[in-house]
Amino acid sequence: MSLEEILIERIGNNGPISIADFMEQALAHPEYGYYMRRDPFGVNGDFITAPEISQMFGELLGLWAGVSWMMAGSPNSINLVELGPGRGTLMADMLHAAPLVEGFAEAIVVHMVETSPVLSSIQEQTLKKATLSEPPLWHKALADVSEGSSIIIANEFFDALPIEQYFKAGDYWCPRVVDVKPDGDGLCFVLLPPFDMPELPPGLVNVESDVMVEVCPPALDIMADISRRITEYGGAALLIDYGHSQSAAGETLQALKNHKYQNPLVDPGESDLTAHVDFGALAQRVFASGARAIGPITQGDFLCALGISQRADALMKKASPKQAKDISSALKRLTDVEEMGELFKVMAVVQQGAPVPPGFEQ
Ligand SMILES: C[S@@+](CC[C@H](N)C(=O)[O-])C[C@H]1O[C@@H](n2cnc3c(N)ncnc32)[C@H](O)[C@@H]1O
Repeated sequence: MSLEEILIERIGNNGPISIADFMEQALAHPEYGYYMRRDPFGVNGDFITAPEISQMFGELLGLWAGVSWMMAGSPNSINLVELGPGRGTLMADMLHAAPLVEGFAEAIVVHMVETSPVLSSIQEQTLKKATLSEPPLWHKALADVSEGSSIIIANEFFDALPIEQYFKAGDYWCPRVVDVKPDGDGLCFVLLPPFDMPELPPGLVNVESDVMVEVCPPALDIMADISRRITEYGGAALLIDYGHSQSAAGETLQALKNHKYQNPLVDPGESDLTAHVDFGALAQRVFASGARAIGPITQGDFLCALGISQRADALMKKASPKQAKDISSALKRLTDVEEMGELFKVMAVVQQGAPVPPGFEQ
């Protein structure tokens, strides 16, 4: 039985399912979930992420983490937490740069928060060569990571969390859900009759009529937990993702397979499902949880402020002509406004009253 057949049977028995439920099944079903049984990264996969484009990305984030550790008072021990670590490349590159900040590498306890067994074992292999005072730890959720001073990094993690969509019809909100097509051959979206006002971020409450809005309750819950940890124990968080700086109406749920967009409802479990991250809603949750959100700013501005061009120049000096060409194209891909430089945003979380972390100074 395919996941589509399982969902068709379930909907036939119990009625339409929410989009969040559909996303959860498509991405994390124990047997058929997209992330549960494959390595989707790279040229031969479905998509490529910034750390897989160039080591420069992770190295700069490693330095960012080291300076943030110093700004937090250089504690003897600090959790270096990564949410959704993919192949483990970002963490490996961060650890590679960590010794450049004196005392930081020795203080690190690595925590990898990952739901996919396949990716967890790839991460384990990737981190085998890293020199660490304590072996890295794996967890299924942030809630399982020990409390304490933490640097928390999330690159393209929040976009994978399940969203809900609501259509505003006049003054009413109609939930959009997933149903079986009338001819029984596949899945389709339908609108349910309006019911109570959904819980919306402040920026979405007064949108005009005839628009779709998206909300991501798990993202807000995780953001609240990150903010609480930083408020109570110190440290910083860095979120990097594609999305919008302010809450806004619009439909952004998308499916990607072999680097091409697909219909999100076709072949569930076979393509990556994501939605743009609402940084406005996340920032609002940070402040409501007692911490301070800084940004978001664009990925291009952030990496340039951290010195990616200088790092690229240094690498190119020791590179072959072919390697130099690759470094130059990676720099463009990560920072150019036409590529990842503008769509991707970066937001930091620090304690109230803490100084602005590197990369965000005006
Ligand atoms: C798009 S990948 C990003 C990977 C990596 N950060 C990178 O930049 O290459 C999303 C990652 O989040 C993981 N993931 C998705 N949902 C998750 C959840 N609810 N909890 C923990 N990890 C999750 C996936 O298995 C995958 O490792």
